[in-house]
Amino acid sequence: MDNLVIEGGAPLSGTIRIHGAKNAALPILAASLLADESVTIGNVPNLLDIEVMLDILRDLGCKARHQDRVVTIEPATVTSGHIPETLMRKMRSSVFLMGPLLARFGEVHLYQPGGCAIGERKIDLHLRGLAALGAKIEEKGSRIICSAKKLKGAEISLDFPSVGATENIMMAAVLAEGRTTIIGAAREPEIQDLQQFLNKMNARVSGAGTDTITIEGVSSLNGCEFEIIPDRIVTGTVMVAVAATRGEVTIERTCPAHLTSLIHVLRRAGVQIDIGSDIMNVSAYKRTKAVDRVVTSPYPAFPTDLQAQVMTLLAISDGVSVMKETIFEGRFKHVDELCRMGADIRVDLNSAFIRGVPQLYGSTVRASDLRAGAALVIAGLAAQGCTVVEHVHHIDRGYDRIEEMFTQIGGNIVREAYKSRVYS
Ligand code: EPZ
Repeated sequence: MDNLVIEGGAPLSGTIRIHGAKNAALPILAASLLADESVTIGNVPNLLDIEVMLDILRDLGCKARHQDRVVTIEPATVTSGHIPETLMRKMRSSVFLMGPLLARFGEVHLYQPGGCAIGERKIDLHLRGLAALGAKIEEKGSRIICSAKKLKGAEISLDFPSVGATENIMMAAVLAEGRTTIIGAAREPEIQDLQQFLNKMNARVSGAGTDTITIEGVSSLNGCEFEIIPDRIVTGTVMVAVAATRGEVTIERTCPAHLTSLIHVLRRAGVQIDIGSDIMNVSAYKRTKAVDRVVTSPYPAFPTDLQAQVMTLLAISDGVSVMKETIFEGRFKHVDELCRMGADIRVDLNSAFIRGVPQLYGSTVRASDLRAGAALVIAGLAAQGCTVVEHVHHIDRGYDRIEEMFTQIGGNIVREAYKSRVYS
């Protein structure tokens, strides 16, 4: 487990390009199983989660190659619908394979993915959606067996706009008999990207980006070539880091339209953001202001995946801010670590009360999960002195060499082999 060593205080400056979206690539890699021919996917980032997904596809019998951010998959050689528990445990997003394997094989064996640092992460909405399509669901301990001779289209209403459940149902329904309508669907850009990908394989999906998605089942899907959208959460992480270090950066190959809610919050804090179609210029020349209330909610509202990063900025902004986390019940694990660096934050249930301080101070801190880790990197870049972030593997799940990304725009950050620095 590596460490990141960060010398804080340098305002970020320069130009950066954003890599492809992890949360678009993962369901799209799973959906490639639905094709009868080979699939080529571009702009796929080098991330731990992507490599785990490719290992699972290979374990199922696929040929899969990832070179220069291009993935080629030969799904015709898939021989099994059994997802190994060890790989399932490694990455919760393996649950995305349920829909495609059920549609392709009529049977899938998997395991409860289990909770993680940010919450319980249930999959009941996934299972209920597949059952509505005619799947038989058997749960034996943590083992789940889904089977269906032929999936049939249905009208499915989601109690909560779950991103994963929406995507799993879409992928199962494209080869089902008849029409499926998902009411109360999630509206994330990654779901729109999945719809584009499925339709490139000659599926008939419409409505992604709204709360009602319609899928007309087809008999088979062909191969295709596709390019993943830019990662909006990595983009947002860079934007917050620029504001926290009072720098100025141009962000290329991004999609500002996917970040409207974050742009509003940062502008309320006093950050200057100039927008083009696939480019943004972000600058902040003085200390940002507090934002009285930020609430995480399903897209297009403020994203839970940027909550920790924005909290870091509010921790050094002028005034008192309140952040409310409504999506995951355990997503405040970065608070204690920020307080070790001098932040003044108090948590009460799912709200954090943040009293801005003029300065954070370097310390040894530990990443508990992907976005909490990214928040601690931002804190280190803005802090006075040296910060060591431990357990960097969490960050590597969603950021393609985060130290190189920030070094490219003037950050003083290096990766070193793990050695615990907390002296007893
Ligand atoms: C996706 O996770 C993203 N992951 C998450 O990003 C993101 O935070 C989340 O959507 C919300 O936007 C990927 O796309 C790979 P959900 P997912 O189903 O699909 C509850 C990151 O940092 N729920 O929308 O798991 C669940 O417990 C990651 O990149 C059920 O109760 O999110 C949670 O409280 C973290 N039953 C809430 O819904 C279910 O069957 C949101 O879950 C499914 C979900």
